[in-house]
Amino acid sequence: MIVIKNKSMIRKMATAGKILSGICADLKHFVVEGVSTLAIDEFVAQALKKNNMISKTKGYMGYRYSSCVSINEEIVHGVPSGQRIIRDGDVVTVDICASWNGYCADMARNFFIGTVSEKARHLVQVAQDALDAGIKQAVSGNHLSDISAKIQQVVESHGYGVVRDFAGHGIGKSMHEEPELLNYGAPANGPVLRVGMALAIEPMITAGHYDICIEDDGWTAKTVDNSLAAHVEDTIILTDNGPLVITRHNNE
Ligand code: MF3
Ligand code: CO
Repeated sequence: MIVIKNKSMIRKMATAGKILSGICADLKHFVVEGVSTLAIDEFVAQALKKNNMISKTKGYMGYRYSSCVSINEEIVHGVPSGQRIIRDGDVVTVDICASWNGYCADMARNFFIGTVSEKARHLVQVAQDALDAGIKQAVSGNHLSDISAKIQQVVESHGYGVVRDFAGHGIGKSMHEEPELLNYGAPANGPVLRVGMALAIEPMITAGHYDICIEDDGWTAKTVDNSLAAHVEDTIILTDNGPLVITRHNNE
């Protein structure tokens, strides 16, 4: 069942999104060369606490952290570690899902460390373009897979791969609600989109093949061919005036 959000639920989700995007904006000054991915997670945990937010990843299926920090060929679910140090040239993606007064927002942002290759920057830009194009499809009357198809079209038009093993999702009281939102597929399939639906849209793309593998930590997903990957995520709510992106403030 897809939960339609009422005004009060939307207000809480929007507050969650606003706080999260503020935390991501602050992260820009913290995610720098020499810092460990565990230190990044600790920064996120503290910021969530300070803002009365509860991490939805901490405790989720045994996951112990308030963020996922994925670097370069890692796609998603990078497990924070004190041993993993951010280096010049890295593309670092921080993914945070947390609730405020019981309602969630979910977002991921990319950070370029020092001198990043043109190739990596382009891949991230295409992931962002795919997300933006997907969001534009999130209007009442469209089918869910219109979002999926648009994301795939943008990504593949640049010769990049769309990861098949993970997907976007409905979101609300829980981090993951129905429907599952694939990042590929034919248009005009799946449920018809309605005002009040909330979606976390999150293209995951690769410079090479889209096949993934999971590292020994049981979580970190990386490309099998070690090609670069990119992931960016926003939470949106369908309104009468189109998609409201609740995780973008500070002009980001
Ligand atoms: N933010 C992620 C998502 O979009 C959730 C991370 S899953 C966890 O689904 F398992 F690592 F917690
Ligand atoms: Co998500």
